[in-house]
Amino acid sequence: MATTMIVLAHPHRRSFAGDWADATARASAAAGHGVLWSDLSDGQFDPQEGAQHFDPDLSAGGFDPLKVHEAAVAAGRLPEDAASEMAKIRQADRIIFHFPIWWFAPPAVLKGWFDRVLMHGALHDVEHRFDRGRCRGKKALFCVTTGANAAESGPDGKEGDTRLLLWPAAQTLRYLGFEIALPEIVHGVHGYHEGAERAALEARLRQVLAAQDELIAGWDARPLIPFNPDADFDAAGRLRRDRPSHSPFIRHEE
Ligand SMILES: Cc1cc2nc3c(=O)[nH]c(=O)nc-3n(C[C@H](O)[C@H](O)[C@H](O)COP(=O)(O)O)c2cc1C
Repeated sequence: MATTMIVLAHPHRRSFAGDWADATARASAAAGHGVLWSDLSDGQFDPQEGAQHFDPDLSAGGFDPLKVHEAAVAAGRLPEDAASEMAKIRQADRIIFHFPIWWFAPPAVLKGWFDRVLMHGALHDVEHRFDRGRCRGKKALFCVTTGANAAESGPDGKEGDTRLLLWPAAQTLRYLGFEIALPEIVHGVHGYHEGAERAALEARLRQVLAAQDELIAGWDARPLIPFNPDADFDAAGRLRRDRPSHSPFIRHEE
C-alpha cells in the first residue's frame, strides 16, 4: 500500500488550498493509500529555525544550524515537531504539497518547514544528496494556486513563470533525492471576482476538486520536472558543456 503525505501550507483551513488538500486525501484513500497529514494551517508549526528548538548545550558555542542539526540527530535529541515531520517523510512514498503563491514563492511557513524539518545528518548529508539522496524512490507534487491569471503567469507573463517560481522548492526536494512531478497549477484564484466572474471561478474550482481522483490515478504517468543527474556536472560542480540545461537556474554561460 502506498503512503501519501499531504502538506498544507495555508493559514486558513477552509481556503481553496485546504479544500484541494482534502480532495487529495479523499482521492488517495479511495485509491487504497495510507494518508499522512502535515496541516500547517493552525499556526502551531514554528517556521523560524533557531537555538530555541534545541537543547542549549548543542549550541553552546553559537547556533550553527547545520552543525546543530547534525549533533541533535547524532544525540537523538531532535525537536519533537521536526522529528514527527521527518518520520512522516520517511514513511511516505509520495508527498503532495498544497499552497498558494505568495510574493512569487511558497508561503514562508513552507520555507520554514524545509529549513527545520529537512535536517542535515538525517535526511541529507554530503554523501547523500541529489542522485544519492536519502529520499530516492519517493515522488513529490506541488498543487498550487496563483492570484494572477494564466497569461500573466506564463513564460512571457509579467508576473513571471509560475513553474520557475517553483524551481527552488523542487530543487530542495531533488537535493534529498525526490523525483518531482510537473506541478498542478490553478491560476486566477482570488476573492475579488464578482457576479458572473465569481460564478465562473467557483465552477472552475469545483472542477479542479472533482478532477483530483483522476490526477491521483494518473500519478505514475505524470511527467517529471527534469533535473541533470550528478554525472552531468564536472569536478568543480559545473554543468558539462555537452550536457543539456533544463532550467535557467542551471544553464551554460554564454
Ligand atoms: C501575501 C500574499 C502575496 C501574494 N502574492 C502573489 C503573487 O506573488 N502572485 C500571485 O499570482 N498571487 C499572489 N497572491 C494571491 C494568492 O496567490 C491567491 O490569493 C491564492 O492563490 C488564492 O488561493 P486560496 O483561496 O487557497 O487562498 C498573494 C496573496 C497574498 C495573501
